[in-house]
Amino acid sequence: MPLLAVETSCDETSAAVVHQGRVLSNVVSSQTALHAEYGGVVPELAARQHLRNLIPVARLALGEASLAADQLDAVAATRGPGLPSALMVGFKAAQAVAFVLGRPFLGIHHHEAHLYSPWLKGQPQIADFSKFQPNISLIVSGGHTLLVHVQAELDHRVLGSTVDDAAGECFDKAGKLMGLTYPAGPEIDRLAEGGNPKAYDFPRPMIDDINDDFSFSGLKTSVRYFLRDHPGLLDDGQSVRDLCASVQAAIVDVLVTKTIRAARRLRVGCVTASGGVTCNRALRQRLNAACERQGLMLLLADRSVCTDNAAMIGILAERRLKLRAEETSLDTDILPNWALG
Ligand code: KG4
Ligand code: ZN
Repeated sequence: MPLLAVETSCDETSAAVVHQGRVLSNVVSSQTALHAEYGGVVPELAARQHLRNLIPVARLALGEASLAADQLDAVAATRGPGLPSALMVGFKAAQAVAFVLGRPFLGIHHHEAHLYSPWLKGQPQIADFSKFQPNISLIVSGGHTLLVHVQAELDHRVLGSTVDDAAGECFDKAGKLMGLTYPAGPEIDRLAEGGNPKAYDFPRPMIDDINDDFSFSGLKTSVRYFLRDHPGLLDDGQSVRDLCASVQAAIVDVLVTKTIRAARRLRVGCVTASGGVTCNRALRQRLNAACERQGLMLLLADRSVCTDNAAMIGILAERRLKLRAEETSLDTDILPNWALG
């Protein structure tokens, strides 16, 4: 059942073709450079760029999968959450394709798709759900920080989320204070490699709270006060590397500690992680070490599917079609504030 999936919820235009859990193509056109000069994603610009990019990206995805559009058996798109104008472009275009082909259409929850992206392994990537086991899933991106208990396939419960800034947002805002360009997460990761994570002591907000929520705005504020109290620090390369390593360590510490605690409390044998921040090397290493200590299986999303992509939308859509025979009517609207519930 070849299925075409489309993702346009934020600043990545993506189209993918999947077939029986296998990713035949996954084309992602990132708009990062377009939004960098504004220090964040500008919704109107993102939507306009999706309008320009979507058809070429979809054409490439079909080409790489060696398929013509009329060979598709189903079509899916991200329905929410996301930027309304951006979502509209991919969602309506995908509905139009389904309408013309007379094929089933599925509107997919973006975060629910992230939950299953760590199951994509190998080259070509294949999601093997015969090995599925209940897990705690950490979703960390520029817009979201979520801890989710995935009890069974397509059955999950949100345990906690951020009460203010997302983890990626904290990387980006701390980086901005240091004069780094948006998005600053990858640059902090790179600079932190040569720094001492214990050089400066930053707060680990909510790390000891018994709930599964997160808070990162206080950490960002403490970086602001730290820089105010240490004028000239940014002129010294080693101090900047130490600062990056110390801020990164605080964010990673909170994420890892709370994820492992939830896994132990709910007695699952598996932890998964996805979203842009999962590209962070310190987070990957710390999760690896902690899961090994606790005897937990760890599935980290491959770097190619950490950030937003249509393959994860397609993989979930295929499972929903197969296990639940679900379809989304063609006269439905996007859901920009769709809660993962
Ligand atoms: O999932 P994503 O591409 O977009 C959404 O926000 O939905 O995530 C982007 C976020 C940005 O905040 C970026 O700074 C962060 O992921 N990020 C990283 C790294 N790579 C991307 N943060 C820390 N370390 C990285 N290596
Ligand atoms: Zn995402």
